[in-house]
Amino acid sequence: MERRRLGATDMEVSVLGFGGSEIGYQRVSGRTVARLLEGALDAGLNVVDTAECYEDSEVLIGRAIGGRRRDYHLLTKCGHSGGWGRADWRPGALLKSIERSVQRLATDHVDLVQLHSCSLDVLRRGDAIAALERARERGLTRYIGYSGDGEAARYAVECGRFDTLQTSVSIADQEAIELTLPLAVERKVGVIAKRPIANAAWRYARKPAESYYQPYWTRLRALDYDFVRGAEAAATALRFTLSVPGVHTAIVGTTKPERWKENAASLRAGRLPPAVFDCIRARWREIAEPSWDGQV
Ligand SMILES: NC(=O)c1ccc[n+]([C@@H]2O[C@H](COP(=O)([O-])OP(=O)(O)OC[C@H]3O[C@@H](n4cnc5c(N)ncnc54)[C@H](OP(=O)(O)O)[C@@H]3O)[C@@H](O)[C@H]2O)c1
Repeated sequence: MERRRLGATDMEVSVLGFGGSEIGYQRVSGRTVARLLEGALDAGLNVVDTAECYEDSEVLIGRAIGGRRRDYHLLTKCGHSGGWGRADWRPGALLKSIERSVQRLATDHVDLVQLHSCSLDVLRRGDAIAALERARERGLTRYIGYSGDGEAARYAVECGRFDTLQTSVSIADQEAIELTLPLAVERKVGVIAKRPIANAAWRYARKPAESYYQPYWTRLRALDYDFVRGAEAAATALRFTLSVPGVHTAIVGTTKPERWKENAASLRAGRLPPAVFDCIRARWREIAEPSWDGQV
């Protein structure tokens, strides 16, 4: 699998990474997670992303592949150790959350800790970033990053204190392509594309009940890309994200052991031909409404 250097870090990351939210929220069994991750690592995937608040995701990952820690780069997040919606950006709480993550992930350090989508104000205050810097000094993490979108993501790149940015980039979420990614390239900040396949929201014939999927479903309806009606929809969507200048890895969420193989196979074709890429960009510029900002 193709690998790219993650910004100025020493990490050579596989272009396809694993997003760990779904295994937690959908309460996937330990056996299935082990099958999924063992298979993925055996075939060259080396990025595993999770977070403090994705239910048992960290524990499941630690149990499944903690014994092969050298085979993958381990990314987690902090700020909501009491659950999403109960954010706590106080330095002491962040450090405690990071310590708990390291323990739950069955390791002695992670490769990257990211502030989990705090606001621009919290970033500007600086003490949350200082807490991550302290965690790095204490050896709990090798690198620090910000995970989020919009002006906060832009500030995270500008401020010069983060090694990486995790941000939404997909056929249905293109704000970052102009707002943050050119600056990230200039500053050598590593970029991890989250929600990279737009939650495959084209799969739903009717508006999904799950609110998380709704914005992309609505946008895709309006964008009406031809390719989402064909068998190559997921492949084209993923190749689009990985063709965006500055993106190093795309962390796709899945609960299915066979899914990542399908996605890995579709990436063998490499970047999209420029004409196809430009068409998707042009369609976005034509149709996207001002309110279509980066979705957290
Ligand atoms: N604020 C933040 O920091 C933040 C926010 C959101 C996400 N994230 C990170 O980003 C990761 C990915 O985000 P995400 O899972 O929301 O979005 P995503 O990767 O764009 O979409 C995942 C969905 O796409 C489906 N899928 C994957 N490959 C497919 C294929 N080839 N064909 C059809 N469907 C396919 C999966 O279903 P199946 O289960 O059926 O495969 C799953 O429902 C998360 O796991 C998390 O690590 C971070």
